[in-house]
Amino acid sequence: MAVKIKSPREISIMREAGKILAEVHDQLKDILAPGISTWEINRKGDELIRKKKCIPSFLNYNDYPASICVSLNDEVVHAIPSKKHRLFEGDVVSIDIGVIYNGYHSDSARSYGIGKIDKETERLIRITKESFYKGIEHARAGNHLHDISAAIQDYVEENGFSVVRDLVGHGIGQSLHEDPQVPNFKQTGRGMKLRPGMTLAVEPMVNAGTWEVWILEDDWTVVTKDGANSAHYENTILITEGEPELLSINGGK
Ligand code: MF3
Ligand code: CO
Repeated sequence: MAVKIKSPREISIMREAGKILAEVHDQLKDILAPGISTWEINRKGDELIRKKKCIPSFLNYNDYPASICVSLNDEVVHAIPSKKHRLFEGDVVSIDIGVIYNGYHSDSARSYGIGKIDKETERLIRITKESFYKGIEHARAGNHLHDISAAIQDYVEENGFSVVRDLVGHGIGQSLHEDPQVPNFKQTGRGMKLRPGMTLAVEPMVNAGTWEVWILEDDWTVVTKDGANSAHYENTILITEGEPELLSINGGK
């Protein structure tokens, strides 16, 4: 499938989708506290998405059974919300949300510490977010896709953490997953040339220990092989001639 360059009309819809998604994250963040179940977080997320006239894109995607993903500690991504899983002080929780607005997708993820967290977990969350920003320094027309990937990996590893290899970022638009794939680790070759109007979901998944992961028996939940913590940070971005526009952050920066 070829990479789709978005028209100004499509971009303005994706800008709106991203703005709504940012609001959902901001509002959902407020309910995170020790004791709440991941199912309750999902329920609230679903409610916020629908209130804003969007559709939760993950629900039923390849039979995924919930509206958002809520992954705790050694769970990297795609953990299915459950009434049995509650937040505890010291946890790292990764919330991944996708919305469809007017036929267009936006996808973003954030990791948070619950209550008081240890220094190393705090550093994991911070380095994961910073690695996204290191990557997108290269995300502009004329550069190559894998320049982003290499910058993310270098930054993460310089800081003593590892990047997950089994999952990657992706193009996004009328589908949740479009071409191209956006790896968070080095590739042979620089990859395709970036062009204005490309929209990408860049999403480093960073582990405190080994980069290797398992998939649990529910066929969704990705966990670290060594049981160490993991964090995730994702935004939907627009490639321009200059700095990328961060569509899923209000204010675009
Ligand atoms: N941000 C994730 C991704 O891009 C979310 C997908 S979860 C799923 O793959 F349930 F929809 F698969
Ligand atoms: Co994504």
